[in-house]
Amino acid sequence: MPDARQEHWNTIFTTKAEEAVSWYQATPETSLRLIHACGLPKDASILDVGAGVSRLPDALLAEGFGTIAVLDISAAALAKTKARLGDKGRVVRFIVADLAEWQPDLTVDLWHDRAVLHFLTEPQDRAAYADALRRVVKPDGFALIAGFAPSGPERCSGLPVLRAGADVIGALLGPDFDLLEAFEEDHRTPFGGRQRFVFIRFQRRWSSSA
Ligand SMILES: C[S@@+](CC[C@H](N)C(=O)[O-])C[C@H]1O[C@@H](n2cnc3c(N)ncnc32)[C@H](O)[C@@H]1O
Repeated sequence: MPDARQEHWNTIFTTKAEEAVSWYQATPETSLRLIHACGLPKDASILDVGAGVSRLPDALLAEGFGTIAVLDISAAALAKTKARLGDKGRVVRFIVADLAEWQPDLTVDLWHDRAVLHFLTEPQDRAAYADALRRVVKPDGFALIAGFAPSGPERCSGLPVLRAGADVIGALLGPDFDLLEAFEEDHRTPFGGRQRFVFIRFQRRWSSSA
């Protein structure tokens, strides 16, 4: 795992309060709306990649989902989430890994990513991400990916980002994934700014080779 990348994120999560980062959301409303649109049963498995200290697992647990995994390069972020969830989090699997190197050992019905793929600015890192996603998402399963839109900011957390729409992300995932919906919306940062995001929902074809 490249130490600089991991160090960057561990420093963020050990020095900044939860609401002191631009991507903070009290409730991940759009992600939840897209997850609901997938119509999954409560025993479906869900993986949140680049989860940070997002409140998505809290909301999913409250809704009755019981097979949840969260992955992040930052052990500090996941430790905070684990502490926050307390006993409720005993059913959550915590995975510390760099998506550019991760060798998955699980499959899921839904892959969720809000603002991590956009940090993979090197083509080989994005290819590794897509390879992991194809190994993890079950046939008929879903991939929800959100990141900065083509007109969004050029940097996030002091790092350059890839700004891409559904065409670029769809081409990355490959022909086994059908585009179900894509739309842009503004994220209001805790500092009063606006960031243009794109949210994309894909479904893996049943017939695809998992
Ligand atoms: C902008 S934050 C978004 C966090 C969360 N998804 C949310 O919506 O609040 C990006 C997250 O991706 C994680 N991250 C960055 N690069 C990563 C990588 N290569 N592999 C895994 N996680 C990574 C960071 O540690 C951070 O938690």
